[in-house]
Amino acid sequence: MIYTVTLNPSIDYVVQVNQLNLGALNKMDNDMKFAGGKGINVSRVLHELGYDTTALGFLGGFTGDFIVDTLTNQGIPAAFTPIQDDTRINIKLKSETETEINGQGPDIHPGEVDALLRQLDSITRQDTVILSGSTPPSLQNDFQQQLIERIAATGAQFVSDTTGEGLTAALSHLPMLVKPNQEELAELFDVTLNNQQDVIHYGQKLLDLGARHAIVSMAGEGALLFTQDGIYHGSTPAGQVKNSVGAGDSMIAGFTGKVIETRDVLDAFLLSLAAGSATAFSDDLATAGNIDTLTEKVTIKRLA
Ligand SMILES: Nc1ncnc2c1ncn2[C@@H]1O[C@H](COP(=O)(O)OP(=O)(O)OP(=O)(O)O)[C@@H](O)[C@H]1O
Ligand SMILES: [Mg+2]
Repeated sequence: MIYTVTLNPSIDYVVQVNQLNLGALNKMDNDMKFAGGKGINVSRVLHELGYDTTALGFLGGFTGDFIVDTLTNQGIPAAFTPIQDDTRINIKLKSETETEINGQGPDIHPGEVDALLRQLDSITRQDTVILSGSTPPSLQNDFQQQLIERIAATGAQFVSDTTGEGLTAALSHLPMLVKPNQEELAELFDVTLNNQQDVIHYGQKLLDLGARHAIVSMAGEGALLFTQDGIYHGSTPAGQVKNSVGAGDSMIAGFTGKVIETRDVLDAFLLSLAAGSATAFSDDLATAGNIDTLTEKVTIKRLA
């Protein structure tokens, strides 16, 4: 089983106001609500690709109910830890420009933390756990660290898609995969990346620090894969970008699902590239059909 953990999911409330007047009454031209959260995205794409997945994390209140209902309607297995507070709402305001206003996230009480940690105890070494996204501010800074230690103790392999301290904590526990994008890589090492040589240099450091595989994604420029045996660049196919939110999450789903299925790292990289671009070329997340079509159009080149 591939578990995803989303500690701070959200309802993404996308509001279109064509002519926005700040300080005045505005009418929405269109509005949509989505079940948001990086681990949830990963589970949705895993499910789409036919891999067994269960989405875990914290959900509460009427907003949490909305997310559970959405996942149930899509047939995505989920076993979220219930919390008292409401799951947050993130506002995506689309006008002449795009403005995002993200909620901080609910207070998570100690009993709720314990309930999530207890759930993780039933994970076995046959399972994989994908930790994605941010931690609600009410949890201590070292919560990701605690979580990773708990998962590592079960013998399950894990994937970390987070930034800063959480990523540093993950690396020391030998994650199967980390997937920073280029900006996140620069932030981790507190450097500016000026060219591909720089990205290769710091990407390789992810392996030196403990990652078994690392993908550094570079949006429209494709991605670099770092393995114990070599470094590879994967291309992006031609296509019309519609909404690249979740492209990185789709990449993680493709790689993790495939590498568990076949143990073939390059096949997994190929599927991850196709899934990332298929999401970038869709309004919502990628469909299996679109991913399949793009698999033929992605190329991988060995660099070192
Ligand atoms: N504009 C694009 N055109 C083609 N492919 C894209 C584009 N944007 C993303 N992709 C594909 O998806 C992969 C992941 O994208 P990106 O680097 O934007 O991840 P990310 O920043 O982690 O995204 P997110 O966190 O929103 O899921 C890229 O490596 C690429 O293969
Ligand atoms: Mg990302």
